[in-house]
Amino acid sequence: MKSKPSFEERAEAIRRQAVQSLFELFESSSEGAVAVDGDARVVWMNEKYAHFLGLGSAEETLGRPVEDVIPNSLMRQVVETGRPILLDIMHFQGRPLVVTRFPLHGEDGETTGAVGFVLYGNVEPLTPLVSTFARLQDDLDRARRELAEQRGAKYTFAQFIGSSAACMELKRQARRAARIDTTVLLLGETGTGKELLAHAIHAASARAGGPIVGVNVSAVPENLLESEFFGAVSGAYTGADPKGREGKLKLADGGTLFLDEVGDMPLRLQSKLLRALQEQEFEPLGSDKVVRVNVRVIAATSRDLKAMVAEGSFRSDLYYRLNVLPLTLPPLRERLEDLEALCDALLGQMAARTGDPLREISPQGLAVLAGHSWPGNVRELRNVLERAAMLSDRIRLGAQDFEGILPGGGRAVSPELGPREARPLADVLAEAERGAIRAALEAAAGRKTVAARLLGISRATLYEKLSTLGDMSG
Ligand SMILES: Nc1ncnc2c1ncn2[C@@H]1O[C@H](COP(=O)(O)OP(=O)(O)O)[C@@H](O)[C@H]1O
Ligand SMILES: [Mg+2]
Repeated sequence: MKSKPSFEERAEAIRRQAVQSLFELFESSSEGAVAVDGDARVVWMNEKYAHFLGLGSAEETLGRPVEDVIPNSLMRQVVETGRPILLDIMHFQGRPLVVTRFPLHGEDGETTGAVGFVLYGNVEPLTPLVSTFARLQDDLDRARRELAEQRGAKYTFAQFIGSSAACMELKRQARRAARIDTTVLLLGETGTGKELLAHAIHAASARAGGPIVGVNVSAVPENLLESEFFGAVSGAYTGADPKGREGKLKLADGGTLFLDEVGDMPLRLQSKLLRALQEQEFEPLGSDKVVRVNVRVIAATSRDLKAMVAEGSFRSDLYYRLNVLPLTLPPLRERLEDLEALCDALLGQMAARTGDPLREISPQGLAVLAGHSWPGNVRELRNVLERAAMLSDRIRLGAQDFEGILPGGGRAVSPELGPREARPLADVLAEAERGAIRAALEAAAGRKTVAARLLGISRATLYEKLSTLGDMSG
């Protein structure tokens, strides 16, 4: 009685079948097949190939050096190196052929010969494939260029307007920071130009050719921050991108990572980030492969990090790691001598962007602006100038153009919230909306398109709200 074959025996049989049927498949579906021995002499050729080569029969090729039979053949190279040439284009009588060549190995691993197949004797059917490939390659190149441009610095020092003593000193320190490859911490109120300065430092640094990649910690939901920084492999967590995703640390490799609003970083992540910054390596979520990077960090915050360290909401070790070279951006109210130059620059940018005529500001207009406390700093100034330009047709903006816009100028745009008794939220929100819409309509002198723009909503939404919120007079 025959005993059941062992696993090894069955495996060997299947392997032999695989080798044989694969060979037969190639042989029958290709335009020709040839085999050579260790000296690159033809030991076998199918009739199809012989016919293709214009020979009388395959038999007459046996024992001849392969190049005698197939000019330009690379079979000898395959035999000599023991390495396959999986896909190649060979020219025969001016015709391109797509060929593949494999070495054959004996028991002890030495190369005993090689087989070659002509996969396509006619590349014309491949033209769609080849042109699709060329087009995809073009698309990829263009996307890469665009991405590099986007990631490149948007601003330079020249764009940081200000010749007050405070600004000159800040720019001097920032230029120095650009020359040394160290961590920079930008401190300052919102709208003082921290992001602008971070880009300028990067653009003036040795890393200018690399990317600058920003993460606004306060804008990313806490549960996504970790993968935002470190990336994730596919299936790392529910809802994760099935293809996995590259973290910002990796994207910033060779360049600068701009850590905006770093004071909003959850404690749990602070230690992981610290380790990544110290070691310049980390593991993406769900991966045990260490990723090494070379990243320079510029961090920014509008919060009092030192106080946060004292109260325990910011890790002191991360604070010291970031606080290597702190730069403090002065608030606008402390450098009002820069107001005029800032207005000129911002109005210039506006005109360039919209194509509208360039606006100016009268001395009286400037005086009104100088009387404001600018809690939102340059960002607020830009918004105020945009609103004034939108609401006024005058080329030269005057006091009256700003008085209606600036809070405290008599007609506040911000909604008045009612007394703080407990009330249904819907009522409070409706009242706040009513107040905001009323103020916008007033500022826009009743022009609904302008009011909608001031509110940052569409005209249709404004009409809808006007009908649902009811009485706007109160
Ligand atoms: N010194 C400056 N010169 C010109 N524009 C500035 C200056 N500071 C800030 N801005 C502009 O004000 C806006 C807010 O600046 P940003 O860098 O985002 O401030 P922050 O990051 O401190 O909140 C941007 O439009 C920026 O271009
Ligand atoms: Mg900012």
